[in-house]
This record gives sequence, structure tokens and C-alpha cells, in this order.
Amino acid sequence: MNPALSKFMLKSTPKSILNPQPEMNTAIPLNTGATIPALGLGTWQSAPGEVKKAVVHAIESGYRHIDCAFCYQNEDEVGEALQDVISRGIVKREDLFITSKLWCTFHTRAEEGLQKSLDMLKTPYVDLYLMHWPVPMNPKGKSNVFRQDENKTNKSAGNHPLFPKHEDGSRDIDTSITHQDTWKNLEKLIQSHPDKVKAIGVANYSVKYMEKLLKIATIVPAVNQIENHPLCPQQEVVDFCKEKGIHITAYSPLGSTGSPLFKDEGVNEVAKKHSVGPAVVLLSYHRKSHPPNSSDPRY
Ligand SMILES: NC(=O)c1ccc[n+]([C@@H]2O[C@H](COP(=O)([O-])OP(=O)(O)OC[C@H]3O[C@@H](n4cnc5c(N)ncnc54)[C@H](OP(=O)(O)O)[C@@H]3O)[C@@H](O)[C@H]2O)c1
Repeated sequence: MNPALSKFMLKSTPKSILNPQPEMNTAIPLNTGATIPALGLGTWQSAPGEVKKAVVHAIESGYRHIDCAFCYQNEDEVGEALQDVISRGIVKREDLFITSKLWCTFHTRAEEGLQKSLDMLKTPYVDLYLMHWPVPMNPKGKSNVFRQDENKTNKSAGNHPLFPKHEDGSRDIDTSITHQDTWKNLEKLIQSHPDKVKAIGVANYSVKYMEKLLKIATIVPAVNQIENHPLCPQQEVVDFCKEKGIHITAYSPLGSTGSPLFKDEGVNEVAKKHSVGPAVVLLSYHRKSHPPNSSDPRY
């Protein structure tokens, strides 16, 4: 890490945020009037058979914000976990903040994408529905084929339903619509189904994309979920969204799988000084909401 940044973190990290536990459900206001809990559990790459246990454990430990997506192909198991904790009276649905995301091959089918996620999550509504990427992709893959290796496209089964490619291996982008059209589809969705979606937002938006979106938006996105950690600060889009009242959620806040940040000298120096682990320091870097990911109950 940049030594200046490390020095800054060491000096400026207040004691109160070095222990995120009491602050994990700090309610951060969204531009919709609702709030989002500061810390969430991410579910990407959580293996089948593990994600249910992880979500149940997280909710029993106090997490109230779960970050999901159709593309993660495990929303059915997350749904089992939600059903389990709700049926045992650990939480009520309204105590939870559930995010899901519209996948790229569903940009022309927002209502269908949402309904699939709701059915799998076994919930009547999501608190936040994000456009996962501003990239519409060919929607004509065979939609009942899941958990398929994206490199092993089965030609007889049609193009891949989640990661369609052309014959030459390039991504099969749907050029008949733009991400602004998709946003319009999401606006229609929340207007016609306010009982099923409480807020809409985007993910992976740069300033350039956000400017294009805001030109046509009648609803300003509630959230932009972007990669954000000390090696990927993306300050320009963070500042832009702050100015527009768009909440930034930091994904991969620990630096994602195999993160070099756990071995970073600066992070470890701060951690040692405060007798905490490097993950606590990395989470303290944010004053936004962030869904870290772990299937290990210790975390
Ligand atoms: N919107 C998007 O496009 C997008 C993209 C990426 C991610 N996300 C969201 O953000 C969530 C988190 O992102 P991420 O999974 O990429 O990265 P992350 O949370 O930054 O890092 C996860 C990795 O850190 C490890 N880890 C967790 N706690 C640890 C600890 N205390 N000490 C050491 N290692 C620890 C985990 O290993 P173990 O599991 O072995 O503990 C896992 O390998 C995702 O689950 C997803 O919900 C969104």
C-alpha cells in the first residue's frame, strides 16, 4: 500500500470503527427515505451446501444485510436460509435488508429476472434491486441451464444463459438496447411493483456511465455498488455519487479472493497497533456499506 495512505489510516482510524461489531447495523440513509445497514454478508462464490450455513450463521450473529444476485446461482439456498431464520423467529422479514441484482442477460426481461430471484429467495420483496453491470447481453440463451462452466458452452443447448459468447469467443453483447433502456425498465418495474422492489440502483458504474444514466433517469439510483478497498479507491466515482446523493456500497472490501491486502505492511501495522485482525482494519477503511464475503463462521 502507498505509505502515505498507510500513515493516514494509522492516524485517522477512530477507535470506534476499529470494532465494527456495534456499528454493523448502523442505518445509513438512502435517497428513498429508507436505510441500509452498514455491513452486509456477500454471497458470491459461496459454494452450494455452504451458503445456507453462512447466511444462517451471519443472521444469528447479528447481520441484517445480505447481498445476493441471480448470477451467483445460489439464491435458492440463500432463500432456504432466510426461510429457516424467519420460521424459527430469529428475525422477521422486515428486520432484514435483502439486495438482489438483475443479470446482464435479463436487461430486456427485468420483471422476469426479479420474479426468478424473489421465487428463489422465497421472499415477497427485495429491499434493493441493482443493475449488476451496465452491459446488456444476448437474452436468448437456454434459461434453464445453470451452474454451467462458462467456457464449456453446449452448442446443442443454445448459447450460455448467463455468459453468452459469439463463435469467436467474444462476449455476445445485446446492442439492440443500452444501459439507459435497462434503467427505464427498472424504473417501470418499481413503479408497477412497489410491493416487490423497495429501491433500485446500479453496480459497477463509472462517472461516465453515471452521467449518461442521470441524463435520462426520472428516479436517481439509490446505490452504486462498486469495487472499493485501499488498492481500488475509485475516488472520482465515490465523490461524484456522494454529490448526487447516491449511496456507495463497497464490494470486495477485503480485496476479494486471494487478496494481497491481508499481507500488506500498512494494514498489518494498523491492525497490530489496535490489536485487531487485518479484516477489521480493511472494513474500517469504509464509511459506506460493504458486503464482505466469507463462508467461515469465525468471520
Ligand atoms: N456488484 C458486483 O459486481 C460484485 C462483484 C464482486 C463482489 N460483490 C459482492 O461483494 C461481496 C464480497 O466480495 P468478494 O467476495 O469479492 O471479496 P471480499 O469480501 O473482499 O473477500 C472475500 C475473501 O476474503 C476472505 N476472508 C474473509 N474474511 C476474512 C478474514 N477475516 N481473514 C482472512 N480472509 C478473509 C474470504 O475467504 P473465506 O471465504 O475462505 O473466509 C474470501 O476469499 C460478494 O460476495 C458479493 O456479494 C459484488
